[in-house]
Amino acid sequence: MSKKIVVIPGDGIGAEITAAAAQILKKTARKYDLELEFDTHHAGGAAIDLYGVPLPDSTVEAARQADAVLLGAVGGPKWDQVAPDIRPEKAILGLRKALGLYANLRPVRVPASLAEYSPLKPEIVSDIDVLIVRELTGGIYFGEKCEATLCDGVEKAWDVEIYSVPEVSRIVALACQAARQRRGKLVSVDKANVLASSRLWRRTANLVAQEYSDVALSHMYVDNCAMQLALAPKNFDVIVTSNLFGDILSDEAAVLGGSIGMMPSASLGDGTGLFEPIHGSAPDIAGQGIANPIGTILSAAMLLRHSLGEESAAAGIEQAVDQVLAKGYRTADLYRSGLIRTTTAEMAQLIEQHI
Ligand code: IPM
Ligand code: MG
Repeated sequence: MSKKIVVIPGDGIGAEITAAAAQILKKTARKYDLELEFDTHHAGGAAIDLYGVPLPDSTVEAARQADAVLLGAVGGPKWDQVAPDIRPEKAILGLRKALGLYANLRPVRVPASLAEYSPLKPEIVSDIDVLIVRELTGGIYFGEKCEATLCDGVEKAWDVEIYSVPEVSRIVALACQAARQRRGKLVSVDKANVLASSRLWRRTANLVAQEYSDVALSHMYVDNCAMQLALAPKNFDVIVTSNLFGDILSDEAAVLGGSIGMMPSASLGDGTGLFEPIHGSAPDIAGQGIANPIGTILSAAMLLRHSLGEESAAAGIEQAVDQVLAKGYRTADLYRSGLIRTTTAEMAQLIEQHI
């Protein structure tokens, strides 16, 4: 039976990188005998220009009906001045909420071949394999907020960090299941020495973990975690944390491998899953054909694994990426002399050939 994939290019380099990933998915479909149908929809700044809103109902409806969504990135300076409630980022937040995507999986792997690009010493980062599980539909991103208002003569604004026991339970349970299939180590990250919401988070994590006797749960404050990720990242297996802490820690972890351009993500819930690279729309290099498509291509592999249940096709893409990197091909973000510089399209072509 044919599977429907909604492609949302978004803004900036979004069109280039989703085109590359769709090309890889098409090749994978031929090789592994899958039937995939693609349908393009708009979101972010592109949708503001076309429809006046960042997330048209037609895009949400198409995403709901699809088997999976592949997204590039949204945002750019062109829309920096729009009203807060129609900012391009609202498209991503709206899609996460509309599709109930409460779990964001951000795997960080640094193959030995890329360790030299790290801002850290190669021996610290070589062979890192960490999975960050970020809560995605709660916390301060979705709590009550107040844009700047005048209170007693001074301007104030606020955002509320709020978590419920069911929200924490389901994300910690998902992280325990992921840890069970890996090395069995789970670190729950919070700020329980200061925040009430973190104390509820920690208490709930302990309760949930009792059901997973094969998983070793420990707790870490977020400031310490930021430091440990730079000092000894290999000590981590699975990290589970809130929406805001996960946003920050996953960018830090992503750059351990030298380029954020390599990192994929999967957002999962009870319905359609959404897959996107963790980097942004990179307006400074948009349209030049030099962006690194690997984060999006690896997101397409996660799409095959998590939404379509096609493990061997997913692994096929991941192996092809590793092989092309091992042969010394690099986009501009990871190029150095002695290696072979490629454009976005050439990189996609090479990966396609290795599938
Ligand atoms: C991410 C991004 C988004 C977030 C932005 C674009 C709203 O930084 O996916 O990490 O903060 O969640
Ligand atoms: Mg982010």
